[in-house]
Amino acid sequence: MKLKVNWEKCQGNARCWSTAPHVFKLDDEGYIEHHDIEVPEGAEDDARRGAGLCPERVFTVIEESGKELGGE
Ligand code: F3S
Repeated sequence: MKLKVNWEKCQGNARCWSTAPHVFKLDDEGYIEHHDIEVPEGAEDDARRGAGLCPERVFTVIEESGKELGGE
């Protein structure tokens, strides 16, 4: 599973990181890092939850099947 990161929309809410710090990494200023995320095996549920909590809809979840959820 991957997360497409539309980092320009990030406002530093940090809900993603506080939900799953092993999936979501913030930069020194508290914004999501500027790259898409390869979700580690076993962390898929945490990734979906953290992505869903972002109020800015920064993330698009790309399931293994290719199905895309969230984002714009
Ligand atoms: Fe940014 Fe959303 Fe996370 S605004 S820090 S991507 S909760």
